[in-house]
Amino acid sequence: MILEEVAKDVEKATGIKVYARSIERILSSLLVTSDFWLVVDYSSEPLPLVAKAIEILEKRGYVKINSGIVLTEKGKELIDNLGIVEVKRLRCECCEGRGISIAELKDVYEKYMEIQKNRPEPIREYDQGYITPTSAIARVAFAMENNDIQNKDIIILGDDDLLSIAIALTGKAKRIKVLEIDDRIVNFIKDAKERYGLDIDVEKFDLREPLPEELIGSFDTFFCDPTETLAAFKAFVAKGIATLRAPRCAGYFGITRVESSLDKWRKMQAALLDLGVVITDILPIFSEYENWGFTQETKAWRLAPLKELPKENWYRSWLYRIETLDGFKRLNEKISEEAFYSDEESSCV
Ligand SMILES: [Fe+2]
Repeated sequence: MILEEVAKDVEKATGIKVYARSIERILSSLLVTSDFWLVVDYSSEPLPLVAKAIEILEKRGYVKINSGIVLTEKGKELIDNLGIVEVKRLRCECCEGRGISIAELKDVYEKYMEIQKNRPEPIREYDQGYITPTSAIARVAFAMENNDIQNKDIIILGDDDLLSIAIALTGKAKRIKVLEIDDRIVNFIKDAKERYGLDIDVEKFDLREPLPEELIGSFDTFFCDPTETLAAFKAFVAKGIATLRAPRCAGYFGITRVESSLDKWRKMQAALLDLGVVITDILPIFSEYENWGFTQETKAWRLAPLKELPKENWYRSWLYRIETLDGFKRLNEKISEEAFYSDEESSCV
């Protein structure tokens, strides 16, 4: 009953659909950490929901906020009575739970590490934030396991993760095309291309605009990291799909739980099915993001019950792989400004 009541209050205050299970997951997380960012990570609930739930749990006397977020005696009692257990991560230590070995790409990893050292830092203007080198190489390894890299024409829509460099280092792709809006990243990739003899074709491009006609239906595989408002997500991924040349081509992108509830996930998945593709894989907690320098300028910071910067990486995304099937749709539309406005679940820009 109490969980339902809290859920209802949080839902009313945030405009996000909240379940008793959401509150349960937050309490489970509080059994193992008092760090707000890790509560968001472990609970797999949208950050604004977690922040509001903690506020309401505090008002009701179940948690206390001092140097961390801790359960009170009343909170511990509630947890005992409801049989709530701590959240567990039983991830394989060898592959960090991705299920993908990057051993075969050891040389690629080392070279990538060296090249990316002086990469541009993420800026808020372009909704940036990049994944760790291990996550990037694992993404490439997973795509290679699916033969989506070898002798394939590949397009990357937005490349602050520098995936193009990782893919080029494998020497396996036939063609690598990058569209990227940020001059700093365009120049960084161009520079790496010159210095290390990488075969990458990088072009400055605002992905809100329709893609140049010659790119439509010209690739075997796309990668992108869509903004997670539903409208932006749909438009971004639809453009990726539009670049694919035939049925049974593949696309890769990440979706978080931090900025997207499962209700939004369902809408995203429906949009994908609508475009005539099938979701072949969802690899959980696959990409880990490095903390970014503009945290204090974000909505997440404003909402955080404790103004303390994250001490470790906490922002992760699930890796989606999709395949086109017979009759898939190619949409290449201008994405409106409104699509980029944040929604009630977003917080990190
Ligand atoms: Fe493993």
